[in-house]
Amino acid sequence: MSSQGKSKGTIVYGVSIIAMMVVVGMTCEFWRVATADDDLKADVSLSAFMRKKLESSSTILEGLTVEDSEMIERGAKELLKLSKVEKWQVFVDSEYREYSDGFRTTVKKLEEAAKKGNFDNAALQWFDTMKSCIECHQHVRNERAQNR
Ligand code: HEC
Repeated sequence: MSSQGKSKGTIVYGVSIIAMMVVVGMTCEFWRVATADDDLKADVSLSAFMRKKLESSSTILEGLTVEDSEMIERGAKELLKLSKVEKWQVFVDSEYREYSDGFRTTVKKLEEAAKKGNFDNAALQWFDTMKSCIECHQHVRNERAQNR
């Protein structure tokens, strides 16, 4: 009888340990999923922010093709605004800042050219702007590859 009581106690003890482990495991799993979700959310919003540059670019391109200076100015203003938002500053190294400054300079020239109705110059400034998009991305990719 006493040995039966003892083994019953051991079983209860064992079961409660397993129950505790399950609870701890579930909590860990919950946190893992919760943090992964947060990371994903942050990435999605950064990606959405960065993709706005495509919309503004397409506004500019449309403005250039139909010679609508207002559209070009609007797209340029949007790009300038985006480049000044905190989210843009994904990196804080001086090179990234230089790429950002260079980008703003050509976008401002593009805006000026559109304001004057000089579409030939606006087209040239647009090429420089696109070059600046590509070069900054190359820089970012290189940095990432080096830090891996
Ligand atoms: C000064 C640097 C810089 C310039 C200039 C720049 N970008 Fe980006 N861009 C970034 C960074 C940083 C990211 C985020 C990269 C990452 O986290 O993987 C990014 C991401 C993007 C993405 C990918 C978004 C996604 O996740 O799907 C697109 C599209 C994009 N940029 C378009 C443009 C266009 C178009 C221009 C020019 C009009 C431009 N960018 C100019 C730095 C720049």
